[in-house]
Amino acid sequence: MLRGKTIVLGISGGIAAYKGAAICSKLVGAGANVHVIMTTSATKFITPLTLQTLSKNEVHIDTFDENNPQVVNHINLADHADLIVIAPATANTIGKLANGIADDMLSTTLLAATCPIVIAPAMNVHMYEHPAVVHNMKLLADRGAMFIDPGTGQLACGYVAKGRLAEPEEIVDALSRWFSKPQLLQGQSVLVTAGGTIERLDPVRYLTNDSSGKMGFAVAEAARALGADVTIVAGRTSAEPPPGIRLVRVESAAQMLEEVLARYEQSNIVIKSAAVADYRPVQRFGQKLKKSRGDVLHLELERTTDILQTLGEQKKTQILVGFAAETEDVEKYALDKLERKHCDFIVANDVSAEGAGFNGDTNIITIYNKQGIVERLPLLGKAQAAERLMNIVANRLQQIKDDSHDR
Ligand code: PMT
Repeated sequence: MLRGKTIVLGISGGIAAYKGAAICSKLVGAGANVHVIMTTSATKFITPLTLQTLSKNEVHIDTFDENNPQVVNHINLADHADLIVIAPATANTIGKLANGIADDMLSTTLLAATCPIVIAPAMNVHMYEHPAVVHNMKLLADRGAMFIDPGTGQLACGYVAKGRLAEPEEIVDALSRWFSKPQLLQGQSVLVTAGGTIERLDPVRYLTNDSSGKMGFAVAEAARALGADVTIVAGRTSAEPPPGIRLVRVESAAQMLEEVLARYEQSNIVIKSAAVADYRPVQRFGQKLKKSRGDVLHLELERTTDILQTLGEQKKTQILVGFAAETEDVEKYALDKLERKHCDFIVANDVSAEGAGFNGDTNIITIYNKQGIVERLPLLGKAQAAERLMNIVANRLQQIKDDSHDR
């Protein structure tokens, strides 16, 4: 997958810079044309000659080392790169890119680049968790940069913690996978809801459900892998959201409705995997409820707005995918929801079945459209089930495009 690809390898100044040699060597071995840019600090850890020998290309360090009068080096590199990978990416380099600072060869090239940028951070764990670094990484992820998470292990500073540069094999595999994905959803905006909503009763108590967010997050990752620009609107989740995907947090069904509606117009595909409360307390108490209210406490609940149904009613060209979490008559209820909520697809899961539904890492889904079953999937990891679902949705989008072309 890397054969013939032009890859710019940016090496910034951390101890893991020495791994840049292995990354460069593996990329070249896989057939890529590798151009290395080093920061001055990186040259303190590994010599440019090593990288030049491995890449068989000149190594760039100084923006003003313009030895070819025909081109401006940093623009030329940025224009010709199929992908830029920064490994290791220090907190400083990440901070510069996030804030538009261009004061050396690597940062100027990054600012001039329009190709995908992959960032493999490596630093001390406290630096990695510093709010400024977290904020910068989120900014970059929101702009579409992909991150290869650091590993956990012995750090050069003596800590055993998260912050080690991912292994060279892992980085090269991730780049290879990126090039191997058919980008069926390139240029498409996909909105995914995940997790469960929270309906507050008083300042410390709320009604919610068992959704972990795993299914929605897997769907978002599968959409991103197909090249889509993905936004997740997530309620309460116990799973870690996927790095590098825009994330909007909400609590209640009403907030989810607002955030989803605000993005509906510009979305091409909406996948409603969140478990949304059907009812909320009529009254939200300002103070913590006291036991002195008696042995029995009656709560009055009212219906929330059905977000999926609202989207269905306002649907223009979007592909709308709902989920149906059922415990009985799965097909009947799923098809009823497909019809009532004007969905293009409904993904039914029998949440009472072993290995399916809430919380676990697996699911058993059946995908329906108005004609009936599109695909009945066996017990699969949520990632695999999501991949299959997103392929079906992407193919449907392609079909719609082809049909409008033929007309
Ligand atoms: O998060 P996990 O732990 O991985 O679990 C995954 C899951 C079980 C939550 C997921 O696979 C799933 O089934 N999600 C939908 C849960 C749900 O609310 O289903 P429902 O049958 O009650 O609702 C049908 C559809 O209407 C859903 O797309 C839901 O998002 C939507 N809905 C429901 C109520 C409401 N007020 N607004 C909605 O949009």
